[in-house]
Amino acid sequence: MKYSIIILAAGQGTRMLSQTPKILHYLGGKPILQHVIEKAQALSDDVHIIYGHQGEVVQNAFRHFDVRWVYQAQPLGTGHAVMQAIPAIPDEHGVMILMGDCPLVQVETLKAFASSIQATASKLGVLSTSVEQPFGYGRIVRNSQGRLCAIIEERDATVEQRLIKEINTGIYFAPAELLKLWLPQLSNENQQREYLLTDIVKLASSYSQEFFVQLATDSEEFAGINDRIQLAKAERFYQKRQAEYWMKKGVTFLDPSRVEFRGEHINLQPDVTIDINVILEGPIHIGSGSYIGPNCVLKGVNLAEKVYVHSHSVLEQTCAETGCEIGPFARLRPDTYLKAKAKVGNFVEIKKTTLGEHSKANHLSYLGDAQIGKNVNIGAGVITCNYDGVNKHQTEIGDEAFIGSNSQLVAPVKIESNATIGAGSTITHDAPAGLTLSRVRQVSYPKWKRPKKQDG
Ligand code: UD1
Ligand code: CA
Repeated sequence: MKYSIIILAAGQGTRMLSQTPKILHYLGGKPILQHVIEKAQALSDDVHIIYGHQGEVVQNAFRHFDVRWVYQAQPLGTGHAVMQAIPAIPDEHGVMILMGDCPLVQVETLKAFASSIQATASKLGVLSTSVEQPFGYGRIVRNSQGRLCAIIEERDATVEQRLIKEINTGIYFAPAELLKLWLPQLSNENQQREYLLTDIVKLASSYSQEFFVQLATDSEEFAGINDRIQLAKAERFYQKRQAEYWMKKGVTFLDPSRVEFRGEHINLQPDVTIDINVILEGPIHIGSGSYIGPNCVLKGVNLAEKVYVHSHSVLEQTCAETGCEIGPFARLRPDTYLKAKAKVGNFVEIKKTTLGEHSKANHLSYLGDAQIGKNVNIGAGVITCNYDGVNKHQTEIGDEAFIGSNSQLVAPVKIESNATIGAGSTITHDAPAGLTLSRVRQVSYPKWKRPKKQDG
């Protein structure tokens, strides 16, 4: 079935008490509205977004999306919002209406809703769900035969109507033709003086058009975000869902409630194990058999199989080949590339550097702008001095080199294969194979006495 989708996103989001438009607040590391746009685009190539409040900021945030922007100059209500888009939609199209502040709804649920409408030969439909705490939502009011006769907003509801637990999810389906006929007939004679989209239910019955109601079972999907408490709840629902998704694909979480997924393009292979308090920010690929220790933050990371990341490590734009070992307390900055079985230990910072196969930097180092070969040992406290205050310079270290502890390699500099650098050296010129030292010779003065304090 071909249909257009209208997403309502022009409201002020007053209840957020924020300078940032509500739909630009983040859920799972991306703007609330982006979740809705992506789902809409999975269903239709004709997506209209009603925007208004801080319009330029909103439009700018989604400029890469191929959607139609429809301006609603004043937020006069959800009915008024839909009316802005409807003239551009052909009469024969069906229209699905989505709320920009309900990001958790699943594509499958929307597909099933659209197919039920078709299967029941209904023209009009609304998705409802049942919640324990219906406060704030429009209530589904049914007549004695169980048919929908009205959707009543919290503010307009009677005390008995407020007890109804079946609520309006804000997701509708209707032919463009009927919306064109009815929307201009809406009135704003209600508590909030708005043109309420929900009032089309009453209009439909006055035209003897029956509304089909699909009761969705998973109410968490329809959590609307109006304030920060609802935003936090929606975030938890989202995270729980992500963790469940990956567990079904063979990933172990030591505690699925203590892992965070942010952004997109996250790919975890079966038999990955994630310990507690881990943040995964996409794009991320973690190969089978890898382990991420407690309190790690990974952003833009590609790990092959059997990579072991010990606790408290922070990895950004880093690639690690099979069998690497990282951390605890490692900081891998953008453009770090660890070849197979390389090892990076505690308090090591790496940036724009390749560490070759089987090479090790086990303790307290800074390696920046360096190309390091295989089987290299970087001793404790080794530093590449890559910055002269203006430019960055390269350090090159050949295979099998051994860099003694507490050495500084002043770039640009090259350490040849098989070179050994004595501990405590400051290397300012290229070093060949064999031993290079640049330390002051050790001298002892056995007769030397410490100065003593004079008494009195
Ligand atoms: C709305 C529904 C309510 C439903 C709930 C589900 C109406 C009247 N109420 O209530 O029945 O249970 O969603 O979450 O439809 N918007 C515009 N232009 C406007 C007004 C709103 O684009 O003039 C947009 C908002 O940006 C928001 C959406 O419409 O994305 C819903 O508006 P909101 O004020 O959040 O409605 P609710 O009170 O949540
Ligand atoms: Ca809302």
